[in-house]
Amino acid sequence: MATLEIRDLHVTVEADNATKEILKGVDLTVKQGETHAIMGPNGSGKSTLAYSLAGHPKYTVTGGTVTLDGEDVLEMSVDERARAGLFLAMQYPVEVPGVSVSNFLRTSATAVRGEAPKLRTWVKEVKEAMQRLNMDTSFAERNVNEGFSGGEKKRHEILQLELLRPKVAILDETDSGLDVDALRIVSEGVNRVRETGEVGTLLITHYTRILRYIKPDFVHVFSGGRIVESGGAELADKLENEGYEVYAKLDGADTKGGVSA
Ligand SMILES: Nc1ncnc2c1ncn2[C@@H]1O[C@H](COP(=O)(O)OP(=O)(O)OP(=O)(O)O)[C@@H](O)[C@H]1O
Ligand SMILES: [Mg+2]
Repeated sequence: MATLEIRDLHVTVEADNATKEILKGVDLTVKQGETHAIMGPNGSGKSTLAYSLAGHPKYTVTGGTVTLDGEDVLEMSVDERARAGLFLAMQYPVEVPGVSVSNFLRTSATAVRGEAPKLRTWVKEVKEAMQRLNMDTSFAERNVNEGFSGGEKKRHEILQLELLRPKVAILDETDSGLDVDALRIVSEGVNRVRETGEVGTLLITHYTRILRYIKPDFVHVFSGGRIVESGGAELADKLENEGYEVYAKLDGADTKGGVSA
């Protein structure tokens, strides 16, 4: 059983010629087959956690450990992390001009699987995955995320998730900006991958509405750069009703955002 273990993770960024500590001791264990939701106010460091796990060069780990099946993730390059089975769906997916969705997916699959998927079965695999996500198959020939609407970008992220079958998937606000139908389709995609029991899911979200479709086993409150409370699915409802103010008092974080739906 694959396990992602994050222990006392500290991360800084360089901004305006100063070093700012964003993550201040994150502890979290995600096992294959489990779904964890992370909720927390704007600016509390949720995306920083996602980027740090993916190996984004802007974020410097100054303390703590991250292991996947006991292997040191922090020692790995971005490619090695993907090959080891880590997947990140970004809050703001980037455009990749000049690279078609089809080529991008095949290159990613080749990197993750260690060999190029057979062309004939691959074309079919991609087509079927796109149909399940209600994506027009003409998207395969478009450049990655170029001119995609917000919802189309999110579907493309889930398409990657379905095709790459990671051990641990980090989904950063995959639900934001989706209309009700798209939310359902995207959630169904996440659930299909989950139901294999082969992926551990870390779902970063502001809204409890996605948790109606994707039932988390654990909910964590993120505030001031760390996890300040953990519980079951019922914790999400408490947050929706009460907001994050109570946690802000604990660590002086800025929580003006609160929870809204
Ligand atoms: N590359 C960066 N340069 C400067 N500051 C950064 C950088 N990345 C993150 N930060 C700062 O770190 C803090 C945490 O940002 P982060 O994006 O992780 O928050 P978040 O919890 O994902 O918020 P949101 O809910 O709004 O997505 C913010 O104050 C942000 O401005
Ligand atoms: Mg964020």
